[in-house]
Amino acid sequence: MDLEELSSTLSSIEGEYRGRSAAVASLHDLETLRSEFVSKKGKVALVYRQLGAMPAEMRPKAGELINALRERIEADIAAAAPALEEAARQERLAATAGDPSALVAGARRGAGRLHLVTRTRIQLEDIFVGMGFTVEEGPEVESEWYNFEALNIPKYHPARDGQDSFYLNLGEEDSMVLRTHTSPVQVRVMQNRELPIYAIMPGRVFRRDTADARHTVGFHQIEGLVVDKGITFGHLAGTIENFTREYFGPDITSRLRPAYFPFTEPSAEFEITCTICKGSGCRTCSHTGWIELGGCGMVHPNVFEAVGVDSEEYSGFAFGFGIDRLAQMRWEIPDMRVLTENDIRYLSSV
Ligand code: DAH
Repeated sequence: MDLEELSSTLSSIEGEYRGRSAAVASLHDLETLRSEFVSKKGKVALVYRQLGAMPAEMRPKAGELINALRERIEADIAAAAPALEEAARQERLAATAGDPSALVAGARRGAGRLHLVTRTRIQLEDIFVGMGFTVEEGPEVESEWYNFEALNIPKYHPARDGQDSFYLNLGEEDSMVLRTHTSPVQVRVMQNRELPIYAIMPGRVFRRDTADARHTVGFHQIEGLVVDKGITFGHLAGTIENFTREYFGPDITSRLRPAYFPFTEPSAEFEITCTICKGSGCRTCSHTGWIELGGCGMVHPNVFEAVGVDSEEYSGFAFGFGIDRLAQMRWEIPDMRVLTENDIRYLSSV
């Protein structure tokens, strides 16, 4: 082979390459082309192998011509790649419309799972059932009497303002509400169950709050009620401490601070060690090391009277706190609204 023959071989390879490259429609086509023309066993390399059979004085020039062609082809392939990569990306996006998880290699369509709030409720039920409590439920639509009056919150009592209610167009005007707390279930349980009572009452509650990082309009509470002979504040404190440790683990403990609720006397707020800083003080707990979780106290004699329990013979304690709030602390969820927005990508990550 002389230089002239070499040139014509190279230009026919180049011509073939140009023809083929015009038809490239995908990254896969491009890779095929690269392998056929400029890989170790490609057409250009085959010509290179024939160098040995050429007269020695021709070889430098021949090598130069062959290398120049290889470089042209390689540059051409490199220039075509980005647009094809972008096209492939667009195609994947379109095929997985709106579901980025499908792009993750090996991602499977997972089975459904229970909502975090439901899982938290079930865990709490397990803990309290383990302590000898039963689980009770009550209606989400309540009369004012159950939601307020029987709980020692008469009309015009300021405590009603603190729980801005949704009133319903049912029965007499302003007589029915979406319950603002689970405390009315206490009243129902005392009416309907024999003493002694050791019960928890989880459920949905509703308040006309503006949703923010720590509030949603509908949320969940769990109420606790114990009525028996000889029940003391010590039993209350012990129950709360026990549940706190069981749910959060041994690093987290509880404390009670005097507070006011109409349906308990004395009343307390219970706080737990801040789950973010473990008590050393941070922004979330306003540098106190504690976070308020709920309310509690000894059942008020007026509440016993409303349901006909003899407060000379029996005493009891009650407590109530938010299930969503508890989950928020345990899982360190910065904004509670994610729990009601139903974004499956978030919900399946917690
Ligand atoms: N019902 C109260 C609320 O919604 C919480 C509460 C406080 C429940 C004290 C109780 C209690 O049983 O004793 O904010």
